[in-house]
Amino acid sequence: MAKSVIVINGPNLNMLGTREPEIYGAVTLKDIEARVRAHAQQIGLTAEFFQSNLEGEIVEAIQKAANKYDGIILNAAAYTHTSIALMDAIKATGVPTIEVHLSNVFAREPFRHHSYISPAAAGVICGFGAKGYVLAIDALADIFDT
Ligand code: DQA
Repeated sequence: MAKSVIVINGPNLNMLGTREPEIYGAVTLKDIEARVRAHAQQIGLTAEFFQSNLEGEIVEAIQKAANKYDGIILNAAAYTHTSIALMDAIKATGVPTIEVHLSNVFAREPFRHHSYISPAAAGVICGFGAKGYVLAIDALADIFDT
């Protein structure tokens, strides 16, 4: 059976397209999802999508991934820098997780340089805009093949 991936996006990423386009570009979340879905299909994976502005809902989405998906792509947005709960959820599920950020968080304000997600993630991709999600699909495919 095809391996499956859930792409989880956190707060304010539903606003992509109009939100600070000088940082995040003009691409919408729907555009990103279409791009990721197409690439996943091309390499024989399935991709589903979840977005929430609420930390607890994201914790639940990660918990539910445990028995349902083979990999997680997570852009936790601002919760990246604040949420021990999200880190704990990823560790609890044991599902390989790729952390993604559209922007290069290390070239931005110092409070964005720390991530609670990274210690629990298989790897981190940041600074490549929407392409980062596609790269994350390839990263998970490599993990599935090893
Ligand atoms: C972000 C970076 C975060 O610092 C910020 O809070 C976001 C988006 C990114 O994709 O670049 O909301 O995760």
